[in-house]
Amino acid sequence: DYLKIFSPATVANVSCGFDSMGFAVDAIGDEMTFTKTAEKGVKITNITGADLTYDVDKNAASAVVKKILLDAKANFGIELTIHKGFSPGSGLGSSAASAAGAAFGVNQFLENKYSELELTKFAMFGEEVACGTPIADNVAAAIYGGFVLVRSYEPLDIIKLPVPEKLRVVAIHPQIEVKTKDAREVLPKEIPLKDAITQWANVGGLVSGLYTNNYELISNSLVDLVAEPARKSLIPFFDEVKESAIKAGALGAGISGSGPTIYALCKGDEIAEKVHSAINETYKNTGIEFEIFISKVN
Ligand code: HSE
Repeated sequence: DYLKIFSPATVANVSCGFDSMGFAVDAIGDEMTFTKTAEKGVKITNITGADLTYDVDKNAASAVVKKILLDAKANFGIELTIHKGFSPGSGLGSSAASAAGAAFGVNQFLENKYSELELTKFAMFGEEVACGTPIADNVAAAIYGGFVLVRSYEPLDIIKLPVPEKLRVVAIHPQIEVKTKDAREVLPKEIPLKDAITQWANVGGLVSGLYTNNYELISNSLVDLVAEPARKSLIPFFDEVKESAIKAGALGAGISGSGPTIYALCKGDEIAEKVHSAINETYKNTGIEFEIFISKVN
């Protein structure tokens, strides 16, 4: 009647795949506990690591638990604790980790009644509660693990993609907050056909590179003409970080989700360490606090 889970941080978009690609990291995430109660409904008893609401209808995690318990006509309730391992507004899918963790956790008390696709739909509701838009890229990556493609939103179709064994991510989180809502307001409403062609061609290239373990193709495909040009001005020293990561051997770099975290994909631990040092060097004199981590894609 008690469950403790880890729900991962996620990198959405992965440059070319705006709102349609994402991957999970195993180095950072949230810890959540679930306790079954005789009394129906959901209650949050403790939140640590971030200042989030205990209002069950406004908190992404409890809103999802509530929705699932109602849908399943459960005759029990859940008490929830949330320990945030990383901050909201980081671009690493903070609300998604809470929403996906909530959906996964409560499903364990329902004998796994719901499929991963159904859990993703419930978790998207949590995203809507947290940031106004039911985006699937982060939540799907957290629920399915590894790399995912949101092939369609209506009807929802999630494709789990393979992860080449040596793939590593280095991510730097400048300690400023960028709200997803604000980062979506700066996006272009229309894109030139020429740019659209480049974008979808690179999505194809990235997917193909993941299936064939072709790191060069992955590298060539980490291109974003849609969100990155519009958003990078929200992220101090974005160009400098990207340039130093690539110079140090990264396959490519870009904005993680809606930022401000900048991610770099690398082949192998050794290059990941070099990219880590290079980014660290670049950022340490900026006067902005930051955190860097290296992780497997998992
Ligand atoms: N794909 C989303 C965005 C990620 O870039 O706005 C945040 O959920």
